[in-house]
Amino acid sequence: MAQLPLEDNFNDIIAKAQKGFKLSDMALAAATRTTVDDLNKLKSGEMNEPLVRRIGPIMNLDVGKLLELGNKSWYPPEHKVPGLVMFTTTYQDMTVNNYLVYDQLTQKAVVFDTGADITELVKHCLANRLKIKFIFLTHTHVDHIAELERLKQKSGAPAYVCELEAFAGAEPFKAGKVFDLSNMEIETRLTCGHAKGGITYVIHGLQKPVAIVGDAIFCCSMGGGMVSYVDALRTNRQQIFSLPDNTILCPGHGPLTTVAEQKVHNPFFPEYKQNASRPA
Ligand SMILES: [Fe+2]
Repeated sequence: MAQLPLEDNFNDIIAKAQKGFKLSDMALAAATRTTVDDLNKLKSGEMNEPLVRRIGPIMNLDVGKLLELGNKSWYPPEHKVPGLVMFTTTYQDMTVNNYLVYDQLTQKAVVFDTGADITELVKHCLANRLKIKFIFLTHTHVDHIAELERLKQKSGAPAYVCELEAFAGAEPFKAGKVFDLSNMEIETRLTCGHAKGGITYVIHGLQKPVAIVGDAIFCCSMGGGMVSYVDALRTNRQQIFSLPDNTILCPGHGPLTTVAEQKVHNPFFPEYKQNASRPA
């Protein structure tokens, strides 16, 4: 498959932050000594470095990381972990990821979200004799659960969702619950803000720690605060950036990355700096 593009560019991040800060175009233009016209050009993707330099500090975005994104000068290296398979499908005009994790000895598997089409996932399971035991949902936005009924029918596995987004098709659980699958432990962490009951699933027992994050965080961006921008930032800091640096992050959109990479490259988190694993 061709390289999956980063989900957001610098201008998408500025737009998400502006929405999060509830700043009108007029207010942001005034605060950055520019015109609404120039602000809109920037938000449509036209790079204006002096303006980015003025906007960053106002909305606590990292200027260097925004410019790096705008210049397209970094893309994550490939991350592979035995027992982790990513599927990317197309929902309307966007791509969405879902994931399969399995124990190589027992061939017991779990699926995280369904994406828009489970055909390839089902084929992969049949070809490798994997038996799906659980279906876990990161959140209930439709692009992530579009094939839930079909996957439940095909696998016979139960689906689980955070109690804050309970619905008839899945069993609710409280964040903090730990699930077991063979030698693996699957820890559940509440990463709300993008979604009311957004869950990050941290898998222990593969060669490296793996976190299935849904839309809580993307490589170089985040899903944004559809419910609460403040909560989205806070829960990402508390629940994702506190994981070991080598944790593989598996987002609902865009490529895989790691905690260490996001400390260096994600503009929403300026307190983490180059070559530092802790906030400056
Ligand atoms: Fe979402």
